[in-house]
Amino acid sequence: MASQVTCEHRLNVRWLGCDGDANTGKDDESEVNVAATVHFLTVNLLFENYLHSLKIQSNGMSTYLVPDQNTCHQPTSITGENQIPTEEEQAYKKLDEKLKSLLATLPKDKGWRSANIYLHEGFWLSPQVIKGLLMINNYFHAQSTDIFLAAFMKCGTTWLKALMFATTNRHRYSFSDHPLRRNGPQSAFPFLDTHIFLDYPITKFEHLPSPRMFATHFAHSLLPTSMSSPTSTCKFVYVCRDPKDALISKWHFMSKLRSKELPPLSFNEAYELFCNGVSEYGPFWDHVLGYWKASQESPEKILFLKYEDMKKETSVELKKLAAFMGMPFSAEEEKRGVVAEIVKLCSFENLSNLEVNNEGGGAQKFTAQVAVENRDFFRKGKVGDWKNYLTEEMRERIDSITETKFKNSGLTLGLTKEA
Ligand code: A3P
Repeated sequence: MASQVTCEHRLNVRWLGCDGDANTGKDDESEVNVAATVHFLTVNLLFENYLHSLKIQSNGMSTYLVPDQNTCHQPTSITGENQIPTEEEQAYKKLDEKLKSLLATLPKDKGWRSANIYLHEGFWLSPQVIKGLLMINNYFHAQSTDIFLAAFMKCGTTWLKALMFATTNRHRYSFSDHPLRRNGPQSAFPFLDTHIFLDYPITKFEHLPSPRMFATHFAHSLLPTSMSSPTSTCKFVYVCRDPKDALISKWHFMSKLRSKELPPLSFNEAYELFCNGVSEYGPFWDHVLGYWKASQESPEKILFLKYEDMKKETSVELKKLAAFMGMPFSAEEEKRGVVAEIVKLCSFENLSNLEVNNEGGGAQKFTAQVAVENRDFFRKGKVGDWKNYLTEEMRERIDSITETKFKNSGLTLGLTKEA
């Protein structure tokens, strides 16, 4: 039964979260009513029980690896637990009120996964991640050794997670019996945007071994100065991708997650929204440009990578990544084939074929109600799949937006060496 996590099941599960998430197709403002109502607790418990019955949880669901202890950390959530909230937890709950009043003031448009997304400080976000952002800004304390993996959606987060985890922990594990093989890259480290409210209290993050690593999709300008200021010593690895491939990948991914209560998002509609910047965490171009400019100002703080370069010369880019993280490969390690082992371990072919990344292998919990199967993070893993979807006119329009937006920035997308 564990392997029977069908699309139908997923959609039903998400439907259960009718007042905690917009998968219902109801207006997103209902998302903020997450406060512990009896109804919500029931829904949440049903959800947990449901997942349990599918044995997803035992497969690394909503966990991340804690290398020093060689275990998986199991986040706990304030919702769905019969415990008296701490002062810290009560403070988080107050954010729901703040979120509610904030949403009432923001412009909204069509979401790709949920009914609506909101324009907050120049970027389109779902209510759940706006809540995450408020929490990051209020409660998250960046440490000087933190490393953040940042990217627009579908630009290579999964791949980079695996590479960063394998590189950082290369002295701890043998490649043949590596935790990535059992748990998959999604478990490598927390996705800050939503783990911040899934994982009460935030101070739990303080116990993670150094360097702590977190993934985020938030735009650079949205992050607190403790993370983004050039004077803070924490680092960012940013990975970008040709927007045409990011669009195709995102449309496939979001179509899988979209509520069946909502009409499907046609490709033409997604294309139009994407070009207008209306897509979760978008506009794509502003996202990329923000990190690009910051990386130009502080190259020691932000490493700017491109998916296309990584596909072409993975070892070269991996060596750059390791050096940037302060753990360069020694000549002896290279001779022993460590770089090649990491490249192989983290390759699309290897990761996408692991049991944990196949049907019934496991899922990631993103909010109390939204779980995404591990296998949905793997599709084709190729450069240029857009050619199978975009007409010449569509390609021209996206390329011309890119050209206009990036004019005089020094940034070109696609392969660096052919630019
Ligand atoms: P496609 O949909 O084009 O195949 P993210 O991890 O940011 O969500 O991005 C997902 C995209 O990266 C998907 O692209 C997925 O197939 C691809 N991907 C996942 N793991 C990869 C890997 N190890 N190497 C290369 N691409 C990978």
